[in-house]
Amino acid sequence: MSTTISLVTGASRGLGREVARRLAEEGHTVLAGVRYPARWSPLPGVEMVELDVADPASIQAAAAQVKSRFGHLDVLVNNAGILLDPTGDALSMDVDLLRRTLETNSLGPLRVAQAFAPMMAKGGRIVNVSSGGGQLSAPSTWSPAYCVSKTALNAITVQLAEALKPRGIAVNAVCPGWVRTDMGGPGAPRSLAEGADSILWLVLRATHDLTGGFWRDGKRLAW
Ligand SMILES: NC(=O)c1ccc[n+]([C@@H]2O[C@H](COP(=O)([O-])OP(=O)(O)OC[C@H]3O[C@@H](n4cnc5c(N)ncnc54)[C@H](OP(=O)(O)O)[C@@H]3O)[C@@H](O)[C@H]2O)c1
Repeated sequence: MSTTISLVTGASRGLGREVARRLAEEGHTVLAGVRYPARWSPLPGVEMVELDVADPASIQAAAAQVKSRFGHLDVLVNNAGILLDPTGDALSMDVDLLRRTLETNSLGPLRVAQAFAPMMAKGGRIVNVSSGGGQLSAPSTWSPAYCVSKTALNAITVQLAEALKPRGIAVNAVCPGWVRTDMGGPGAPRSLAEGADSILWLVLRATHDLTGGFWRDGKRLAW
């Protein structure tokens, strides 16, 4: 019997690396998407795949590689993300910085889903790692480009969920909470394990009929 094939983007460090490690522990065949292969330090049961989510050619090459090596994909965790504007507000937001943030945080996951969904079958799952910062129902001035990119990712999640419903592929967005990673900083209240738990719930425990939602710790969030 074949194992579950799972791809995690942005798996060189932080939440992506922890999710990849934990999925391998669960017995999945795990592919770690990494943009700079020289920086990859191996994990047991995890295979590195070169994948820069901001580079369409890199996405196409990774998809071709996975297709020829495994033939299909069961789980896609769109985790790679950047936060370039910890300060400022919409009036001072640098539009080029917003464009770069959207390329990685919103268009990246969309392009990766477009490239890999054709090799996913009924029962497949796509998990987009979003953020409470993207909630339109809880606005703030914090990190405006990052928040706009995660709101866009949430909208893309809903669109993908509708498009993939007829094929039985579940698509959801998840917030890991505020986590102690390079992005979250040392003062964040949550451990890597707690943040990864929030993401892994959608991969390992959520019933498959749940699609098109936004979740944290297994509970639905308002958009
Ligand atoms: N930490 C938090 O408190 C928090 C809260 C809410 C949501 N999130 C979300 O959780 C996800 C993971 O965050 P984190 O805290 O683990 O961040 P992190 O420690 O900064 O790690 C980010 C990861 O994304 C990768 N990455 C960035 N741009 C990429 C690209 N173009 N192609 C491929 N990989 C790329 C990085 O690779 P390199 O090593 O090559 O730079 C790194 O592996 C992000 O989507 C983030 O927005 C985090």
